[in-house]
Amino acid sequence: EAGALWGGRFASGPSPELARLSKSTQFDWQLAAYDIAGSRAHATALQSAGYLSENELASMLEALDRLEEDVESGAFTAAESDEDVHSALERGLIERAGAELGGKLRAGRSRNDQIATLVRLYLLQHSRVIGHLVVQLIDAIASQAEAHGDAPMPGRTHLQHAQPVLLAHHLLAHAWPLVRDLERLVDWTRRASASPYGSGALAGSSLGLDPHLVASELGLDRPTENSIDATASRDVVAEFAFVTSLIGINLSRFSEEIILWNTREFDFVTLDDGYSTGSSIMPQKKNPDIAELARGKSGRLIGNLTGLLATLKGLPLAYNRDLQEDKEPVFDTVETLEVLLPAFTGMVATLKFNTERMAELAPQGFSLATDVAEWLVRQGVSFRDAHEISGELVQFCEQRGLELHEPSDEELAGISAHLVPAVRGVLTVEGSIASRNGVGGTAPDRVAEQRNQLTERVRVL
Ligand code: ARG
Repeated sequence: EAGALWGGRFASGPSPELARLSKSTQFDWQLAAYDIAGSRAHATALQSAGYLSENELASMLEALDRLEEDVESGAFTAAESDEDVHSALERGLIERAGAELGGKLRAGRSRNDQIATLVRLYLLQHSRVIGHLVVQLIDAIASQAEAHGDAPMPGRTHLQHAQPVLLAHHLLAHAWPLVRDLERLVDWTRRASASPYGSGALAGSSLGLDPHLVASELGLDRPTENSIDATASRDVVAEFAFVTSLIGINLSRFSEEIILWNTREFDFVTLDDGYSTGSSIMPQKKNPDIAELARGKSGRLIGNLTGLLATLKGLPLAYNRDLQEDKEPVFDTVETLEVLLPAFTGMVATLKFNTERMAELAPQGFSLATDVAEWLVRQGVSFRDAHEISGELVQFCEQRGLELHEPSDEELAGISAHLVPAVRGVLTVEGSIASRNGVGGTAPDRVAEQRNQLTERVRVL
């Protein structure tokens, strides 16, 4: 079989059915530039160990440059007969450098250590792109928080009115998980930045090639420690799929709220025309499709992760062809996030908040009842009694259609002698929010401080 990497011991070429099943160029072609970078590094190591002369190295590098240009321009593409990106590029190299020189590059490496290296290079590069896009989203959220200063909203638990909070506080609560996702990506980078090159098929190389040289040529921190582990493990890929799934999940949680806020019933936000869609039949519609797609695509990212985990769980050491199935899920995850994040950030940055309505709803649903209880505690009442008294006040108001500040002095005293008129001091949204000034609380000073912490945490990454 012309161009195949393993023809020697076979009497015939692969059957067409096998060739079709085995072929991976339709997706691993994306790794071509990394494969060529790996080849350059490997050629350098071969030369430094004495397997290539200076001149041969120069010709090899020159041929690899031309091959790279031809891949970029589309002049060189995978042929029907190429099993994978590695086979295709070896064919391309031989076409450019000749069979004699081109045939030398394969010494001391295997597609098993090659692919394990390339997938790391691909993920490292895209982790930087995705990290950058997440930073932009965090910036957009932080800007919205800053723009809405002291604006209150109803804070919820169980989706029920709970206590008033600052809109800025709520928005920043969506930014912090993304900051942690960024930190996870950075931490993952430390584990990913090792080069399997030199592991060979599984047992290592007998040629005395310098793996440190290859690693540093590829911009990786170090060689991997164990050639079997390096060619057989894909935990680095799985961890990337996990961290990116979490990013998806965090976008999805935010999306769910944006979708609710955008309903007529909530009416908390207006989506920018450029970041919402219409209906083909209902002329009045303006739909939150970006948020819905984010919510939907997060399921897809989780699927990519779980599919990959299922592929890995039963594999004996070392390399097995099952491992070829590691790439499509993470390629899909990368492509999904690189398209989704810019749209999501645009939607967030252009969101208009109906702060009047949010402020109007903030005290409703007796959301200041906790403030009454805590005020009583500050007057020396036990929390157990305070909770009870405040609950009776809620019941009193509910039965009469009143808000908590509306009962008369006599009515307050009738519920409990502890409920003196001064309690009305905490029965405002502003008073309630300002009183929650413990670390991480919703008081305006704390939220401003928190925003600075957030910016600083992102800055040092
Ligand atoms: N295409 C394979 C993969 O993606 C790499 C080639 C290793 N193939 C082999 N038969 N050893 O994992």
